[in-house]
Amino acid sequence: MTPENASSGDKDARTKDGHALYVTVEEPTRAIVLHPLIRRQPAEASPCGPRAVALRDPEACLEEARGLALAIDLNVVAAQTVSVPKMRPSTLFGSGKVDELKGTIAARDAELVIVDTALSPVQQRNLERAWDVKVLDRTGLILEIFGLRARTKEGRLQVDLAHLNYQKSRLVRSWTHLERQRGGLGFVGGPGETQIEADRRMIQEKITKLERQLETVRKTRDLHRASRRKVPYPVVALVGYTNAGKSTLFNRLTDARVMAKDLLFATLDPTMRSIELPMGRNIIISDTVGFISDLPTHLVAAFRATLEEVLEADVILHVRDVSHEDAQAQSDDVNTVLAMLGIDDERRESIIEVWNKTDLLEPAQAEIIRNQAERSDSVFAVSAITGEGVDALLEAVESRIGAHSSEVTVTVDLADGAGLHWIYENCEVLNRVDGETGFQMTVRVDPAKQPILEQRFTVDLENTDLVRDSA
Ligand code: GTP
Repeated sequence: MTPENASSGDKDARTKDGHALYVTVEEPTRAIVLHPLIRRQPAEASPCGPRAVALRDPEACLEEARGLALAIDLNVVAAQTVSVPKMRPSTLFGSGKVDELKGTIAARDAELVIVDTALSPVQQRNLERAWDVKVLDRTGLILEIFGLRARTKEGRLQVDLAHLNYQKSRLVRSWTHLERQRGGLGFVGGPGETQIEADRRMIQEKITKLERQLETVRKTRDLHRASRRKVPYPVVALVGYTNAGKSTLFNRLTDARVMAKDLLFATLDPTMRSIELPMGRNIIISDTVGFISDLPTHLVAAFRATLEEVLEADVILHVRDVSHEDAQAQSDDVNTVLAMLGIDDERRESIIEVWNKTDLLEPAQAEIIRNQAERSDSVFAVSAITGEGVDALLEAVESRIGAHSSEVTVTVDLADGAGLHWIYENCEVLNRVDGETGFQMTVRVDPAKQPILEQRFTVDLENTDLVRDSA
């Protein structure tokens, strides 16, 4: 999106930012994917993402960028890494490289160039002019994917909001430059009335409107969540780098039909199912959006609501593709996002690592991975495709949840309607015997709520012990 086409004030931001351009054409757009190899200081670590700790293989980065481009149905006619010894503020690449790439673009008859890094608005515009094609940077590409994959109303609103914030930041950053240019040409109407300011105001109005709509949708969702909480099943959330196999594992665990295919970001909105674990405990399992390196901060903020399920989860399954050459860097990225979401060290105890896709490893390598996993209580080697290791994983989930809650039998006075209500709201009721003076209830309760339960009701120690023994 360039500031020029942001100024027309169209009602639907998504038709103006290029969405329609890429999804409604009959022939898929011919695109070239460039992954710049930017020389960084050692502290900045990765060419893929400054937040990543482990170094990434440039070819794997290029492959990921190609995967992202394919995910929005582009026809990728060429993909290459481009070395950038020194970053140019105006065009990122040096002028010789810009010319050379112009030749490649023309030879391949490309209509779009994806530059797999965050470009400044000025760089984007200059490259578009030099190459005479549309240029999309990594943030723009991720936004396109989110736009295509959003399924729920909340998801769509979140994507629109992220898009507008992206556009707004582009206008802000290029404001001085454009105002000077327009001023010089005599286009400035008066103080405070530049075109850019009008654009900004228009975008801001849309943002405010969207935020209001989002708030309403969220309230409805919170109500749903509150009603779900009335069935106090523990929640298990699947998180992981994009393409790690979350949806495939989710399907194996739930037999649900969630879109699982080899497209990055196949999952955008949280999907939940309730399942019964081997020992009979019910849980709610929740699939979440795939994480990725270089996820722009404003995008993380916009998707926070989607990921809030993770914050509430009793157990987090961090699904990792151990067959991927950048498995470590991907894991670092996921952990960074979890930390940004506020999953602190204390909560880290609730994370189980699922080392997925073991079927793709060489037998010797698979053996090493299985042995490593066996040495840790919080790591399980599985294959979501073949089902190997999944039963052991489920048992571990069950014992984690069991470790966090107790079964208690209490007696509730017949007249204590409010007490009865509290129990149904806050505990999982396993058994209820209606007697002449009260209800004898066997419940499963979280440690945080257990003192309240024990203070408010008479605990039937004998039966509580019995239940505990038999559990
Ligand atoms: P996003 O929605 O992008 O976050 O992806 P995801 O983590 O939900 O991945 P998904 O389940 O869609 O799987 C991505 C690809 O990996 C699909 O082609 C799956 O068939 C494949 N896959 C998942 N698990 C396994 C596995 O255990 N073994 C093999 N061989 N392939 C797997």
